[in-house]
Amino acid sequence: MQTVSTVAEMIALAQQWPIGESIGLVPTMGYLHDGHLSLARAAQQECEHVVVSIFVNPSQFGPHEDFARYPRDLPRDLKLLEGVGVEYVFTPTADDVYPAGFACYVDPTGPLVERLEGASRPGHFRGVATVVTKLFQIVRPQRVYFGQKDAQQVAVIRRLIADLHFVLTLRVLPTVREPDGLAMSSRNAYLSPEDRQAATILYRALREARRLVDAGECNAEMLRAALAQVIATEPRAHLDYADVCDPNTMLPLARIEPDQSALLALAARVGPVRLIDNFLRYPNGVWDGD
Ligand code: PAJ
Repeated sequence: MQTVSTVAEMIALAQQWPIGESIGLVPTMGYLHDGHLSLARAAQQECEHVVVSIFVNPSQFGPHEDFARYPRDLPRDLKLLEGVGVEYVFTPTADDVYPAGFACYVDPTGPLVERLEGASRPGHFRGVATVVTKLFQIVRPQRVYFGQKDAQQVAVIRRLIADLHFVLTLRVLPTVREPDGLAMSSRNAYLSPEDRQAATILYRALREARRLVDAGECNAEMLRAALAQVIATEPRAHLDYADVCDPNTMLPLARIEPDQSALLALAARVGPVRLIDNFLRYPNGVWDGD
């Protein structure tokens, strides 16, 4: 496994790959868990060369968010990626990615970035779109790998690829969970043992809403209320949003229609940690998320 620690080195490497060989990119912010590794494994299976980037991107954190204390452990991450057989790990510095004078952000607009995560984290998706565009330009992948865990991020990346004419395939992989249902997240490391137990409430709320949909409930407002009600049973959890929306536009739905996709999306604070989770329902009634 080769660690590539500068943008210039990564660009030079990407230019050397023979035409026709498939390059897979897995963007991450490190502190890796099985969710990240599932993306790396899929890339390994589908591509000739795989680059996993590890970069805690300052531009996607708000001024009062956890950029400075975001968990970091590069030696451990490198060991995990070595175990998966990844060929390249790209670990640039913030000064290299955002040099003095940097001015050109990629700034998505509209409900896609204004609702849900965007409402709670203004500027977040501008930071994500900017760094992901940079990574696409630097690594020049044919396939890129993202997790359904961050459903709105997936919707933004899908638009980014279409709107900026990137010629690449977006692969979205299912959410990897702990045995008790909690979606894996680097931020779970912040949870106290009591909060860690309480954090399963998001999964339990989503399961209940899914049960209601499968039993014929298609009124989105009823489903939002059901999600909120389950969250309210856990005193350590504070709901940020419970929504039923279109997974491509993030616009709220009035009803779940049998022939349309629908996203059940939740964000809640448990102790000091803001957690997000979702279940995606496909038009054929199959669910992704469990
Ligand atoms: P990060 O939170 O490190 O996540 C990197 C990738 O792993 C994302 O595509 C995310 O959706 C996926 N992922 C996280 N938890 C997962 C889980 N439990 N199951 C499956 N996949 C999971 O998302 C980011 O970093 C950043 O915003 C980034 C895209 C790297 C841009 O800075």
